[in-house]
Formats: sequence, structure tokens, C-alpha cells
Amino acid sequence: MTPVTWSASGDAPGKNRGLRVARTRVELERELAQLRSGGATVAFVPTMGFLHPGHLALLDRARELADRVVLSVFVNPLQFGPEEDLDRYPRSLGRDLELASARGAVLAFAPSVEEMYPGGPPRVRVHPGPGGELLCGAFRPGHFEGVLTAVARLFGLVRPDVAVFGRKDAQQVALVRQMVRDLELRVEIAVAPLVREMDGLAMSSRNAYLTPAERGSAPALFQALSAADMAFRGGEHRGAELEALVRRRLEASPEEGPDAPRLRLDYVQAVDSGTLDPVQAARPGHLLAAAGWIGETRLIDNVVLGADAPDPRVSMSGRET
Ligand code: PAF
Repeated sequence: MTPVTWSASGDAPGKNRGLRVARTRVELERELAQLRSGGATVAFVPTMGFLHPGHLALLDRARELADRVVLSVFVNPLQFGPEEDLDRYPRSLGRDLELASARGAVLAFAPSVEEMYPGGPPRVRVHPGPGGELLCGAFRPGHFEGVLTAVARLFGLVRPDVAVFGRKDAQQVALVRQMVRDLELRVEIAVAPLVREMDGLAMSSRNAYLTPAERGSAPALFQALSAADMAFRGGEHRGAELEALVRRRLEASPEEGPDAPRLRLDYVQAVDSGTLDPVQAARPGHLLAAAGWIGETRLIDNVVLGADAPDPRVSMSGRET
């Protein structure tokens, strides 16, 4: 992708005449003042870029919720562990701006690390509380502290009326909502549906890491979660049994053959989507959440028990704002 080098705020290059780009906080402030003149409301979509249809669904939801859509494109170093993929995380700012513009965003904030954290890594951080230790938090120490610190800072800079997050990152959604409640932040949090590839794989920027063979095996996670959801619909409501079913399904010989790459599960858990507490007796609307590795790529996914559309192409959970 052609590098994008403009440094002052202005129109994105190429066809994106409707999208303004702010690289600094001063530019952002100026652009926001113009954008809000006349009392326009702002919906904000924070991203780490390398946009895919899952992000576009966030922008679509944002457009429904406010007069103007602003996104951020920032790969946040605070949320990566020392052995994680910060350096190789895929980046494509020029393409992201084109996609966001085509989807109706009018302002992109794309700061450097120095611009986002001018005094160096922030000394005061947002601690996610016990929910940050569960699920992915148990395997990625410090991850949600890094996420919440960045999100709080972005909320402070953009001051949106509403911010839109994706249901694929269900734990992130729950923790952001908790932060907004606990810190009395004046922003509404909306959730957009999880978007899947045709074969059911949840869309993620990290899917770009998968080799063709790994990509062939990757839908196994959604298939296992779907099998558990079918069992739930058939009357199996014990959380532990639903979790065991996912494990068994992943341990069975993959359809692609005995040599196909296998998913190594970090966890699978039936949880309350609001509190993230494990549930022994699952009810419709509870989440079955899982994460695991194929090769060097970490995948996460979840289904809303009894509520997700069985169609593997797009999984909607109904009323989700
Ligand atoms: O979901 C993401 O892409 C990131 O965690 C976020 C919310 C942009 C914070 O860096």
C-alpha cells in the first residue's frame, strides 16, 4: 500500500474528498469544531486500521446513530504484550481512508504514537477491574488496561456522543461499558453485529496472518461454537457441557484431513455478556466465547446462545445497541 505522508489536516488523497484527516490533536480539535458547528452530533468508531467488512459494519451503524461519523486509525502499543504482534500488525492507512470515506465517515484521526501519547507511555492507566482478568485477559496480561487507557484518551480527544464497537470483541465491549458507567463518561456505547466470512470465520485484521492451510482450518472455531449453540437450542443448557462440546468438536479429526493445522484452544466459556461472569445454567442471550491459536495467529469468536442467525455469512444478534 502506498504510504500516506501528509502531515497537516486536510482532505485525504485520491478520491476521498469528503473525508478529512487529522494527524495531530490540534488538527483534530480544529476539524471537530467545524464538524460540530450547527449542533451536529458525532458517532465515533475507534479502530486499529486494516479495515475489513466488520469495521465497515461499525461505520454503517455509526451513520445510523449520529449526524457525523469520525473514526480513529491507531495501532495502540499499550494493548500488546512484549511477545505479541505489534511490529507485524497489518497497516494500510491509504486503503483504510478510502474505505472509510466510501462508508460515509467525514473525519479520520490517525495520530503517530508520539502524538497520541506525547509524554511517553501514560503513567495513569485505566484498570479494567476483575473483568479484565477473565477470558482473553487471563492469556493477555495488561491487554485490557491498554485498550481502556487508549479508548478513554480517544473519548477525551474526540468527545463523541456515541461510540461503536464490534460484538466480536465482546469482552472489550463489556469492559468499555463498565468504564463508561464507573467513570461517568458522557458517551453512549453501541454495538454492531459480528461479520463473518462465507465459511463462518469471524472477520479480523489478524486473519491476514493465516497461511492457506491455516485459513482452511480456521472456520473450525465457529463450527464448534455453532454445534454447541445447536445443542443449546436442543435443550442442553449446562454451561460446562456446552464448553466440553466445543472442546470435543475441536479435538475430532478435522474435515481437511489429519495433517490440517489444528486450533489450540486458550479457553471456551459460557458467560453473561454484561458481567462476563461464567454461567452454570446458560440462558438465551448468554455468550459462548472462545479464543485459540492456529499456527501463530490468535482467533477469537463468540455466539449469542439461542439468538445468533444460523446463516454463517453474517451473524446478527438482534437488538444490540
Ligand atoms: O478494537 C480495537 O481495534 C482496539 O482495541 C481499539 C478499541 C481501537 C483500542 O485500541
